Amino acid sequence: MAKGKNFSAVAKTWDEKPQRLELAVAVAAAIRENIPLDRQMEALEFGSGTGLVTFHLQQQLKHVTAMDSAAGMLAVVEEKALAANVDNVSTQHNDTTIPSLAREGYGFIFSSMVLHHVCNIDSTLKALIAGLKTGGVLALADLVMEDGSFHDNDQVVEHHGVDPAWLIDQLYEMGLTNARSVIAHRIVKQRGLKRHTYPVFLVWAYKE
Ligand SMILES: C[S@@+](CC[C@H](N)C(=O)[O-])C[C@H]1O[C@@H](n2cnc3c(N)ncnc32)[C@H](O)[C@@H]1O
Repeated sequence: MAKGKNFSAVAKTWDEKPQRLELAVAVAAAIRENIPLDRQMEALEFGSGTGLVTFHLQQQLKHVTAMDSAAGMLAVVEEKALAANVDNVSTQHNDTTIPSLAREGYGFIFSSMVLHHVCNIDSTLKALIAGLKTGGVLALADLVMEDGSFHDNDQVVEHHGVDPAWLIDQLYEMGLTNARSVIAHRIVKQRGLKRHTYPVFLVWAYKE
């Protein structure tokens, strides 16, 4: 579903990059600092990958559905859950460009580093918001707009990051309230002789 990259093919080695682990720790920490999680919450991670963020948060939630379009990523989530005896994480394969949620009424929907791979962000946001129950919260982490140098090997992506101010406007237009944003992390990459810093935002907003 995501343009330009076969995420299933890289699933088994996805967690080998320390930068990805650090990012997941930072995104999970920013979520915990800003959003009151509780053990009654049914949650969904959209574009979970191998569940890096999900496994940092699942202990504070009732249940997390890890949704991804790459079956290989979900197989890794299932292996990890089994190995760690985690019984409140399940997987859902999404084979459409726009997320097709199996149920509604989630108290918390989150995603990290997915929106820039999504062709139609507006339709994706609408589908995620439709999945929230009243009082539920949507939290989205992604790259702040960058110059196109973030992805290696000329990987084709839909967007070179996302403008958090624009995202907040979209969420308000779609009826969410109390939208906020923070910089959750900064990814540093060596680009030739230069070190390049890519900020990652977390935007969250409530359905009332
Ligand atoms: C850059 S990876 C991020 C994975 C994970 N969130 C992380 O931080 O490690 C993007 C993920 O989004 C998934 N994805 C892209 N488009 C999707 C869609 N329409 N529905 C579900 N998953 C999607 C990809 O398969 C991939 O696993």
